Amino acid sequence: MNKTYAIIGCLSILAAGSLAGCGLTGSVRARADAAKVTFGVAVQPGDVLDPGTKKFIARNFNLIVPENTMKWKLLRPTKAFWNWSDMDKLVDFAEENGIAMKGHTFVWHQQNPPYVDGLKNRDEAAALLTEQITTVMTRYRGRIREYDVANEVLNEDGSMRNTVWLRTIGPEYLDIAFRTAREADPGARLILNDYNNEYAGQAKADAFYELVKALKGRGVPIDGVGLQLHLMAKYPLNGDALKKTIARFRDLGLFVSFSEVDVRIELPVTAEKEAAQAAIYEGLLGIAKSEAGAGNFVLWGYTDAKSWIPAAFAGYGSALPFDREGKPKPVFKSMGKILSTR
Ligand code: XIL
Repeated sequence: MNKTYAIIGCLSILAAGSLAGCGLTGSVRARADAAKVTFGVAVQPGDVLDPGTKKFIARNFNLIVPENTMKWKLLRPTKAFWNWSDMDKLVDFAEENGIAMKGHTFVWHQQNPPYVDGLKNRDEAAALLTEQITTVMTRYRGRIREYDVANEVLNEDGSMRNTVWLRTIGPEYLDIAFRTAREADPGARLILNDYNNEYAGQAKADAFYELVKALKGRGVPIDGVGLQLHLMAKYPLNGDALKKTIARFRDLGLFVSFSEVDVRIELPVTAEKEAAQAAIYEGLLGIAKSEAGAGNFVLWGYTDAKSWIPAAFAGYGSALPFDREGKPKPVFKSMGKILSTR
C-alpha cells in the first residue's frame, strides 16, 4: 500500500470510529480517546518530518499545538512575509492522523517582531491585530479546533500586563481579538491562556476569573480558559483549589484546559523528587479525566531533550515524561493507566 492509500485507509477507519486499522489499538492515544480526554503535546516542525517521531506522536496523542511555530515572530517575521510552510506541515500532519490541532497564540508580549513591539498608534495596532487573526483563522478555518487567542495578559497581582496591546489599544484589545476570532472561524473554540491562574483563592487566579467573567458578561465570545501549569515537583498539587477553579469556570459555561503541562525538578534528580513529580502528573491527569468541564491535558513537549525548561529556569530540568533519549519514564506508564481506568 502506498502512503496515500495508507492514510486514506487510516482516516476512513478513524471516521468509522475504530483505531484498529491504524495499528493504534491499546495505544495511549486510543485510551485517551476512549476516556474522552484530549491528551495533547506541543510540537516543533521537525517532529512531523521525522518518521519515527511522527509515529510516536500519532500513537500517543490526540491533539498537537505548535510550541512556537504560530507565534507572531515566527509566522510573520516581517509585515509582508508569512512563513506558512511550517504551520501547514503541522496542520496537514494533524489532519492525516485524525489528531486535533490547537493554535497558539495571537496576543502575547513575547516572541513578537519589531514592527509589532514598536506599534504606537491605536488604529494601526487594532488593524494589525485584526488582520493577523483573520488571516490565520481564515486560512485554517475548520482545520484548527481551538486557539489561545490571548496569552499571559495579567501580572502576578492581577492587574493587566503592560504590553504593546494595552498601551496602544487599551484593555478592550481583548474584546477586539476574541470578536475578530469568532468572526474569522465561528467553529473554533476560543481560549484565554495564562499561568499561575490554577488555584482559586490566589490573587492572580481570582483576578483571571474576574476578568473572564467580565468578558463573558459583556458578550465577548470566549469558550474556554487555559491553565498552563508549568509546575515544580517540590510543591505538591493542591487538587481542591484546582477543582474549585474548574468548577467556577464550568459555572460560567466555559471549559478548562490544562494547556502547557510540565513539572520541573530542581537538579540533581533524585528518586524522591521523581516520585513527587509523578504524583503531580498523576493528580493532574486524574482531575482532567474526572472533572466535568476539564478533560484537556496538553504536555509542553514530550522529551527532556527539547524541553524549554533548562533554558528558562536555571538549575531545573527533567520536566517531561520522556527522558533525553526519548525513553518513557515510569510516570508515562502510570499516565497511560490513569487514562484507561474507568
Ligand atoms: C516557550 C517555548 O517553549 C520556547 O521554546 C520559547 O523559546 C519560548 O516560549 N508560556 C507560553 C509558551 O505560553 O508559549 C512558552 O513557550 C512557555 C511559557
